[in-house]
Amino acid sequence: MKSVLDFPKAKSKNEMISMVTCYDYTSARLVESTAIDCILVGDSVAMTMHGHDSTLPATVEMMAAHTAAVRKGAPSKFIVTDLPFLAHRGSLDRTLEAARLIMASGAQALKIEGIDGSEDVFKHIVQSGVPVLGHLGLTPQSVHQFGGFKVQATSPEAQEMLLQQALKVEAAGAFALVLECVPTSIAKIVTERLSIPTIGIGAGAGCSGQVLVFQDLLGLNREFKPKFVRTFVDGFSMFQTALNQFDQEVKSGTFPAAHESFNPKVDAGAHVKPISKPHEGSEATQ
Ligand code: KIV
Repeated sequence: MKSVLDFPKAKSKNEMISMVTCYDYTSARLVESTAIDCILVGDSVAMTMHGHDSTLPATVEMMAAHTAAVRKGAPSKFIVTDLPFLAHRGSLDRTLEAARLIMASGAQALKIEGIDGSEDVFKHIVQSGVPVLGHLGLTPQSVHQFGGFKVQATSPEAQEMLLQQALKVEAAGAFALVLECVPTSIAKIVTERLSIPTIGIGAGAGCSGQVLVFQDLLGLNREFKPKFVRTFVDGFSMFQTALNQFDQEVKSGTFPAAHESFNPKVDAGAHVKPISKPHEGSEATQ
């Protein structure tokens, strides 16, 4: 995905869109090296990187700082960043300043949760030149209104409401829509009724694409294993084993070895850090 124009193209060609969350430079370099289509700098950063128990503590400054780091690590990826909790619910000036800060940090689009009561601001942001990704279903910024992180749109009335909200998101000018934790059947209906693509998380296989949280798909978050998460690798055990091995080798004296230590005869003036960034070409470390 190079730009927002690639999203409708993918849907018209029936090509699935892959999206992963990412919050830091090192992880972004890893994602940059993959075929994954696009990155979401989600406000889940408040949970995954800052240890909060919801996304509510995420701020505009936090989103901008993480977006800037991700952009440096993933220069070729399409990046969408969340507008954090309440950032678009105050004055229009405040909303536009939040959007400006985040876009200036390297995002190509913003994600906005919900639509009821924010149709006008949603449209205003789109008409100001900022592509917007919608987000319906279990919108985590409304966790307290939902009484917890619960599957949404399970009754016929709630499903009809979701469909109407999705049509409003499309009418407001969104280029795509995230559907989170809703039954497969309603996600499929929404996807068929909209011309823009849907990107599901816990919304079944009938969406136009899928998004997962980086830490979840890499198995780094052992405590969190809801039904919709597939862990593609047990990253926690893998890194834990490596860290324990480091500890053990430090204590047994097998790390560092001679070839991992400096010798004045061969290492005088050796560089220990690349001067240019690795993605800009230099691999040399010594
Ligand atoms: O913030 C986030 O990670 C998200 C995804 C779960 C879609 O909004």
